[in-house]
Amino acid sequence: MDSRIRNIVILGGGTAGWMAAAYLGKALQGTARITVLEAPDIPKLGVGEATIPNLQTAFFDFLGIAEDEWMREVNASYKIAIKFINWRTGGEGSARPRSAGGRSDQFYHIFGLLPFHEGIPLSHYWVRKKHLGRTAQEFDHACYREPLLLDANKAPRWMDGTRAANYAWHFDAHLVADYLRRFSTGKLDVEHVQDRMEDVTFDANGYLTSLRTATGRVLTADLFVDCSGFRGLLINKALNEPFVDMSDHLLNDSAVATAVPNDDATTGVEPFTSAIAMKSGWTWKIPMLGRFGTGYVYSSQFAGQDEAVKEFCDLWELDPDRTDLNLIRFRVGRNRRAWVKNCVSIGTSSCFVEPLESTGIYFIYAALYQLVKHFPDKSFDPVLIDRFNREIETMFDDTRDFIQAHFHFAPRDDTPFWRANKELKLGDGMQDKMDMYRAGLPINNPPSDDASHYYANFEEEFRNFWNNGNYYCVLAGLDHLPPRPLPLLAHMPESVASAEALFTRVSEEQRRLVESLPTNYEFLRSLHGHT
Ligand code: FDA
Repeated sequence: MDSRIRNIVILGGGTAGWMAAAYLGKALQGTARITVLEAPDIPKLGVGEATIPNLQTAFFDFLGIAEDEWMREVNASYKIAIKFINWRTGGEGSARPRSAGGRSDQFYHIFGLLPFHEGIPLSHYWVRKKHLGRTAQEFDHACYREPLLLDANKAPRWMDGTRAANYAWHFDAHLVADYLRRFSTGKLDVEHVQDRMEDVTFDANGYLTSLRTATGRVLTADLFVDCSGFRGLLINKALNEPFVDMSDHLLNDSAVATAVPNDDATTGVEPFTSAIAMKSGWTWKIPMLGRFGTGYVYSSQFAGQDEAVKEFCDLWELDPDRTDLNLIRFRVGRNRRAWVKNCVSIGTSSCFVEPLESTGIYFIYAALYQLVKHFPDKSFDPVLIDRFNREIETMFDDTRDFIQAHFHFAPRDDTPFWRANKELKLGDGMQDKMDMYRAGLPINNPPSDDASHYYANFEEEFRNFWNNGNYYCVLAGLDHLPPRPLPLLAHMPESVASAEALFTRVSEEQRRLVESLPTNYEFLRSLHGHT
């Protein structure tokens, strides 16, 4: 008997639904019929969105779509880092870093791996110098090649297309969903049904058997993928799987967003996402050609909607009555199990954490990768389901902890929101990591500093997702340093001395890059065919 999964119905046509259709369509090589059911009258999420570098290797390369091709379809721009602004000092929301004690209140969280010297990451040599008063350089400027090119709004590629830095992308999520819809229906035979799901049917074991639509269609399947968004129509509503609320770790639950026109020729196009600290949260700025997407992510416990709208509009000098504002409420946490019986939730129906580290879209293709790895037959072996669920749990909780650390360790404590964040308990995994950090050890150090290998191997990256460089960028950027350097370095005087050559090489590279790279504006105009 053929026990293969022959029919898959995906509920929802947002970013998650169409990414799932394309990925599964490709992975299953025409062996299963895939249908996407999407209600045209229920809007999808979609703000200017930021991503992380493995989107190309783990998703688009898998589909066989070249980077420049999809970038042109979705008005994409580059993101080399996240610039954190005003996370150390209190005050009004401002896109300009404040100055305090001769220092500008900003730091970059940069993609890529820290260079190693004699097997030890450069971060640890920097911490030692800092403790001994032998450097005045900020961590990002001392250890990474990118800060000067970021300051100068340079592209991460030379005009011939060669890469100079690790980068991710900014884009309009609606355009991505639309592009993947055309790809999936045109190239992979995915069926698109535009109708509203009203009801579900079950078999005697409580497995889903079909979805019934408003116009009376019945879509039967062996496997259902719930991409219905925060509603979680199949996983939470039909199958009653509980959503584990994590607002005891992260306070933000709301956002107000819009797009703001930008005079690129005058200001340039920043090759980074900005995360600007506000009174009750933070605001993203995601630059694309001609405009930037922006949104204030805030906690409704500490700011009412009107107050948040005012603070947000003041930041960009917008008139609230004349601005098209998107008001969003979100849930924070994950389903107790992402996969239950024959239903797998992917996207915001599965889990959600605020977009501070741009992980929403990553969670989608990481879950798809794991689904394909654990792909079932009609017997739905519980081992496959449990293993998948454990992977999703670890992926989510690890990111939740990392994001909580941003708020927890931020020095600013000028408003009730920032003070409340200091009182929330860190997750157990994070406590453990902080113990290592304080003892001077690297956290999650990858086996090598070869970024081309790291970013090309999704399995390795998934297991080691937030690594030492990520923790150092954020914690050192927030002025939260280990109380002492790695003790071993006191026994390595030769290595400490020879590490100086590496610091010098980093600063030479910084100058070489900033002098030779085109501006981001120039590169993007050429890529998108603007003359
Ligand atoms: P989405 O809500 O978009 O789609 C749901 C789909 O289900 C829709 O097509 C709808 O029509 C359909 N549907 C619902 N009910 C139905 C019914 N009864 N019948 C049929 N169809 C039905 N991510 C990231 O990587 N970087 C970022 O910068 C951000 N920024 C960001 C900011 C904010 C404020 C939020 C809330 C989220 C982000 N994200 C993000 C996350 C990102 O937006 C999200 O992961 C994707 O858009 C995926 O959304 P979904 O497809 O899960 O839901």
